[in-house]
Amino acid sequence: NKRRRSSESEPEEESSSEEEEKEEQKQETEKSSTSDLNAAEKPEEGMKKPVADQQAVPTAPVCQTASNKPSCKPVIFVPVDRSPEIQEARLKLPILAEEQVIMEAINENPIVVICGETGSGKTTQVPQFLYEAGYTSSNGIIGITEPRRVAAVSMSQRVAKEMNLSHRVVSYQIRYEGNVTDETQIKFMTDGVLLKEIQKDFLLSKYKVVIIDEAHERSMYTDILIGLLSRIVPLREKVRMPLKLIVMSATLRVEDFTENNRLFSVTPPVIQVSFLSLGSVPDDTLICPFGAEIFQILFFLWGLSGILVFLTGQAEVHSLCRRLRKAFPFQKNNSAEESVEEIRKFKKSRKRKKTTALPQIDLDNYSVVPVDEGDEDRDAETDDDIAGSDVDLDLGDGDSEEDEKPDSSLPLYVLPLYSLLAPEKQAKVFRPPPPGTRLCVVATNVAETSLTIPGIKYVVDCGKVKKRFYDKITGVSSFRVTWISQASANQRAGRAGRTEPGHCYRLYSSAVFMDFEKFSAPEITNRPVEDLILQMKALNIEKVINFPFPTPPPAEALAAAEELLIALGALKEPPLTGRLKEQQAAKLSCPISPLGRVMATFPVAPRYAKMLALSKQHDCLPYTITIVSAMTVRELFEEFDRPAVSEEETAKLKGKKARLLQIQKIWAGQGALQKLGDLMVMLGAVGACEYAGCTPKFCEENGLRYKAMLEVRRLRGQLTTAVNSACADTGLYVDPKMKPPTEAQATYLRQIVLAGLGDHLARRVQAEELLDEKWKNAYKTALLDDPVFIHPSSVLFKQLPEFVVYQEIVETTKLYMRGVSAVEPEWIPALLPPYCHFGKPLENPPPSYCPETGRIRCHRPSVFYRVSWQLPAVEVD
Ligand code: CDP
Ligand code: MG
Repeated sequence: NKRRRSSESEPEEESSSEEEEKEEQKQETEKSSTSDLNAAEKPEEGMKKPVADQQAVPTAPVCQTASNKPSCKPVIFVPVDRSPEIQEARLKLPILAEEQVIMEAINENPIVVICGETGSGKTTQVPQFLYEAGYTSSNGIIGITEPRRVAAVSMSQRVAKEMNLSHRVVSYQIRYEGNVTDETQIKFMTDGVLLKEIQKDFLLSKYKVVIIDEAHERSMYTDILIGLLSRIVPLREKVRMPLKLIVMSATLRVEDFTENNRLFSVTPPVIQVSFLSLGSVPDDTLICPFGAEIFQILFFLWGLSGILVFLTGQAEVHSLCRRLRKAFPFQKNNSAEESVEEIRKFKKSRKRKKTTALPQIDLDNYSVVPVDEGDEDRDAETDDDIAGSDVDLDLGDGDSEEDEKPDSSLPLYVLPLYSLLAPEKQAKVFRPPPPGTRLCVVATNVAETSLTIPGIKYVVDCGKVKKRFYDKITGVSSFRVTWISQASANQRAGRAGRTEPGHCYRLYSSAVFMDFEKFSAPEITNRPVEDLILQMKALNIEKVINFPFPTPPPAEALAAAEELLIALGALKEPPLTGRLKEQQAAKLSCPISPLGRVMATFPVAPRYAKMLALSKQHDCLPYTITIVSAMTVRELFEEFDRPAVSEEETAKLKGKKARLLQIQKIWAGQGALQKLGDLMVMLGAVGACEYAGCTPKFCEENGLRYKAMLEVRRLRGQLTTAVNSACADTGLYVDPKMKPPTEAQATYLRQIVLAGLGDHLARRVQAEELLDEKWKNAYKTALLDDPVFIHPSSVLFKQLPEFVVYQEIVETTKLYMRGVSAVEPEWIPALLPPYCHFGKPLENPPPSYCPETGRIRCHRPSVFYRVSWQLPAVEVD
């Protein structure tokens, strides 16, 4: 039989006719692949093969197993040349003890779940096991997805180092960059990158193994990848190019994957990797306010062991870092004794300056918990730290009362860690601290699961996290500091002491802990999903509602996403016939439109993708690309409204802020350009920065974030490539410096922005409509009942144009619009027909169903009643 299964490790032996056959089959399968997803409530037949059957056709070299199962192939062992130190360190990792069990399971099953606490070696070791067992070859590589870019980059570097291989072989790919080559055999990437690859090649044929790492984080793309892979794995089986799927989780809560019979028909084996229990420490109780507490803890921890402090956001991290550096001065030439002396002095000076601290967190005490406390169910927050949001956690300026404690503190080597930090600064935490100092990392949630910092013995956990919350329907986001989940707290505690007993200091009582949610919700359940839905439609998954999500997103979020995509023209609108219910059902399974296909090729949110798709007109593309890049990269400008530690610093921040406001006015341009508002400021900032060569110095002087500007540059390049390949005749190239747009172009740009951000239209409440004081200077939007305002940082804050579109609404003290541009009312009917009533305004619009248009959501006529019929100024198609 020519069609025998050939071993994965011997691809060279395959005859060419077999290759061709495979290719044919692959194409066939690709055609049918997404119809499976559309139909499939149930997993398809091919998947229901009993396990024994699968064992008979091993897809990889099988190790001689403990149970002495006859292996079909001799063990293939690809040698790896590791240094003795690396080898020694590896052998200490718990996962090494499980190598054989793991490899047997992988050899014998298409899908395997591996659970092991953070630091047990999953991310760094499993790819090595596979490599050594011959899973990579010229026609297939190992892919590993990470929810965070930081992890994808640093893990690829770590594994390359451990295996003594070059970055050409162990590589990474994240949205803006990568070092993948033809030689790449192990590829770390973000989950979004793999999702894009599925769009180009549904069968992921270049991979032999796909590892979904950090599955417990339940990031939206990870969830969707698992759903897609649950279908891709059996399809690959069908075309006789088996693919192995490995799902790795830091917690044992994997039943959403394993017990979900919509996902996998055969329950995949779950392998658990556990640490040996270390000794525990007795409880200890201290009472003092937050902030001061951290000092107190640090003062009486001794030894050289590292300390990891969890705070909520970037501003808090910086603030504490500065205060710690003052309190535990570290200079290169300081001897330990000198430092201790300085600490004494500092403590004395602090004692004199006694102030009453008003901590923001309502904590009365905290408990010290031994690290290896029973509960194995660990999970993590899915949210990363968020820089510069308006919620700030005041660290207080509390005093410490620790003077009786033994003082053996060494100078601290204090390092911040958060996701917006420049990569080279992030990498510092992995290096040993200078001799005679102790490492103290002050981190946001980013250190919770993705990264393991070596040598940490003490963890200080504030118990809170700064999270972005979205309204399910309107997408309005707000930042809130909330308590973490119990799983998250345990995860944080678990970051301490893997090689010796560790301690976790929780700045909250066990009573507070008991009130925590057990787990945090998967990301897909609490954010807008329109980008995801567009990607899925581009994969021809029309009935999104039937997709095997590990946890399905809420129905209202799905409906809102479909409706937005219909309004943007990305989906083909269903005919408005039949009953309301039928219409609604039709709306939930619209196919993608040609415009939608173009939009799906751009790696940006659908609203921005629409803007790009329209911008070929009037040579607007380079500007739209820049605006979209700037809007996609969050936090272009430095945040100067952060709490300062001293008066001197307050003055400095004030000066910098004034300078930024001044220069933003210049970037906002003159005449018609000004109406483009904050988007013109973005254009001006990017142009000016590139003109100056995009140096850290220029950014520092002008209130720009250097890292953000580099990302804008990268994204501009990438979007230009995407635009060129979507519309072959554009022949666009990036001119970084870019001339300012002409007045006419600025006007077209405003229309383009209106067409893309249409549902983000707002109209100022007129004097005669003022309901009460709270509506003064307020805007009405189509999505919200409450007044919204232009953000004070906007250049249009004082001008108050009648109609504006906004990038986003954030909720702080009020609902604020950010990224605001002025639009002209006469454009609205032409560019946003789905959002207008072409008729007399209704006196009392029904709340959710409009009989005039048959549309499900009725837009408040009061917002639009002045819209008149005039000739369109730009054509949408
Ligand atoms: O994925 P998992 O959390 O199970 O563990 P890992 O990331 O593979 O880390 C295994 C070990 O490698 C940990 O003890 C880390 O401290 C160490 N490691 C390191 O020293 N430097 C890195 N850049 C990454 C990991
Ligand atoms: Mg890991």
